[in-house]
Amino acid sequence: MIKFFQQKKDVKILQDINNYFEKDIWVNGDVTFKFEKKLREFLNISHNVISCNSGSDALLISMMLNNKPGKNIYLTTPISYIASASIPRFLNLQLIYIDVKKNNFLMCLDKLEEFLKTCPRIIKNKINGIINVELFGQTCDLDKLKKISKKYNLTLIGDCAQSLGTKFKNKSSISYYDYATTSFYPTKILSCYGDGGAVFFKGNYKKALLLKNNGHDLKDKSSCLKIGMNSRLDSLQAFVLLKEISQLKKTILIKQKIFNFYKKLLSKSKFISKPISFHKNVKSNNYIYPLLIKKNYRSKFLNSMKRKGIECKMFYTKMLPANKLLKPVVKTNLDNAKKCLQQLVCLPSHENLKKKELIKIVNSFNKLKF
Ligand SMILES: Cc1ncc(COP(=O)(O)O)c(C=O)c1O
Repeated sequence: MIKFFQQKKDVKILQDINNYFEKDIWVNGDVTFKFEKKLREFLNISHNVISCNSGSDALLISMMLNNKPGKNIYLTTPISYIASASIPRFLNLQLIYIDVKKNNFLMCLDKLEEFLKTCPRIIKNKINGIINVELFGQTCDLDKLKKISKKYNLTLIGDCAQSLGTKFKNKSSISYYDYATTSFYPTKILSCYGDGGAVFFKGNYKKALLLKNNGHDLKDKSSCLKIGMNSRLDSLQAFVLLKEISQLKKTILIKQKIFNFYKKLLSKSKFISKPISFHKNVKSNNYIYPLLIKKNYRSKFLNSMKRKGIECKMFYTKMLPANKLLKPVVKTNLDNAKKCLQQLVCLPSHENLKKKELIKIVNSFNKLKF
């Protein structure tokens, strides 16, 4: 079976862990700070970086840091992994979903602006910020998004769980946000051997550190300086990530080649309903390869590929607001998102795919008959 994701497990890293932890500690070890520094250097950003236990916790921490009394609404996209909506709800914050673009699955900035222009003052006054999800490693016109957030005095949060390494105008997409978050979950482009995440922000570093360390600093564990939680990236995971990050540039280059290969050979298929396109200044990390398949063919497509031993995926099977627990405080028109989710499928595109597997995927795709 050609698997959609391939879980990493490097024997050499596992052996090195044994030796390394003769001299470092399992929690808040030197290696954790070394990894944070390396991550910041890799992305070439001036933001502060703190690692934490997961991408979900990274969202939680950024929203706790961005707490503004009386402002309890976030604008976000209806197509994402649950966390980008469930974490604000966990903090008892409210959501309003903005539809996606017609030609992709990202938040439509024209619709965002239209909403902000026309929404009643009583709602507008309560909007704290925008959570922009950089789905499948793609992002929107970040200059325009930043301009909108400034105009309406909104905090810009980037859910970059899937887009580490993505650039807009040659700068890390993370650098455009007030807060950005990422995940090192095992299927992510930079992944560890368990859960992990990081928050990027411009504000008070000490406050963020207290928040993830149960409110105490690292020297005095008896004084509670802030109400916080325990959300630390284990040193062991930081060790894995420090090794893995040295491969990230290469991984992104390989994925770029895979994407070009697919793009060239698949674009003419009669099953594709329309091409997906993005802003010309985006250089994606190419995390996941998406396609829009004509909706009547989609399940046949998925079954045929499965029969040929190729695991394709439907991300995501329903819109976030279709969950009773994630309902918005104000309803908006989400027609584009609805159509997109009826047609979306993703092909395996992990960096360990072999040439013959890629050829098999393309040939199987192009020879499909229903
Ligand atoms: C868009 C998005 N946001 C948030 C998360 C949450 O990350 P984690 O699984 O590390 O909590 C994920 C992970 O799948 C994600 O894809």
